[in-house]
Amino acid sequence: MDNEYQRLDAKFAQSLVDIVAAELNKNVNILDDRGVVIASFSKERIGQVHEPGAMMLKSGVIKEFYVTKADELRFNGVRTGFNMPIMFENKCVGVIGVTGELKTSEPYARLAARFVEANLQSNARQEKLVGALKEKEELQFVFLNKIIRVQEEERKRISRELHDETSQSLTSIIVGLRVLAEQVKGSGEREKILHMRDLARTTLEAVHDMAVELRPVLLDDLGLVAAAQKYIANYSKQYNIVMHVEFNNLSRERFATEVEIALYRILQEGLTNIVKHAKATEVWVSLYKTQTKLILMINDNGVGFNLELFKSTHSRTSLGIYGMSERVALVEGIFDIKSAVGQGTKIFVEIPL
Ligand SMILES: Nc1ncnc2c1ncn2[C@@H]1O[C@H](COP(=O)(O)OP(=O)(O)OP(=O)(O)O)[C@@H](O)[C@H]1O
Ligand SMILES: [Mg+2]
Repeated sequence: MDNEYQRLDAKFAQSLVDIVAAELNKNVNILDDRGVVIASFSKERIGQVHEPGAMMLKSGVIKEFYVTKADELRFNGVRTGFNMPIMFENKCVGVIGVTGELKTSEPYARLAARFVEANLQSNARQEKLVGALKEKEELQFVFLNKIIRVQEEERKRISRELHDETSQSLTSIIVGLRVLAEQVKGSGEREKILHMRDLARTTLEAVHDMAVELRPVLLDDLGLVAAAQKYIANYSKQYNIVMHVEFNNLSRERFATEVEIALYRILQEGLTNIVKHAKATEVWVSLYKTQTKLILMINDNGVGFNLELFKSTHSRTSLGIYGMSERVALVEGIFDIKSAVGQGTKIFVEIPL
């Protein structure tokens, strides 16, 4: 059989047999597409071949048939009764037989056969829907992967450009203004020029910060641990939060680029969320390695939030947590976030190496 859903489900067949048999007080058999009994009220018949059924199926001429008294004598185990082919997608996928006189067995056999067919159709529809959904999910995964890659590449490009071009030009301007300030005579003019130089300096700092935020050069050059340490150092300087950092067994070793970027972005988002939402006074970050995986945990002692409520309400506009879990999924890791109002928030990420 080419499709799983075209096969008769033995459990379903047996339930149907039990219902019809109990109703009629007659035996009911369901055969597969080769004439083997797969469900029967007489349990000993299961697994045996139903000769008249098998002969009809083998002949290729699919038709309903009545097992006569004479057949009963000719073939082992069969009883008089009406037998209906079960059709699905223009193929005979089995036979259902109800024993007894033609008058009573025929309508029940017809009804039961229709019932099995309807069940097969509904299974097939479901199977197709599930298949379509799976395909969509796979496509979504591919797109997401692509979007994240493109975004990272773009950030890297802009960051490099800011760093190499814009910063260099600003530096030249600053130096030029200083030289100019030394050359002018009037102190009023000099003041103005120095003021412009200070403005250029502040801009340079802002450009530098932006470049680092977009894509720290450290991440590409020295790796996750160095970049994370630097990020955390800046962060704790900037905000009034006590940081407990543990990178115990990690030195400056490198991991796959996707893994380093994913963990770095998660750290960024996790710590940004703490500043934005948590009102935390203490934060614990730990990054460590076991033989097979890399684990990142970010915990805070802030206000926490109701995760279920968040999922059912804002989850479409807030992308931070969603983005973290997607990034982890792309590197086949595990993402978990736990939070409760008044009990802080815990982020757990595990990535296979
Ligand atoms: N550490 C935290 N402490 C308290 N609340 C948090 C914390 N992290 C997230 N939240 C809550 O979960 C929500 C979702 O966070 P998420 O990062 O997905 O979105 P966001 O930060 O609101 O927006 P963005 O898309 O810019 O990240 C937040 O709006 C906030 O209510
Ligand atoms: Mg966020």
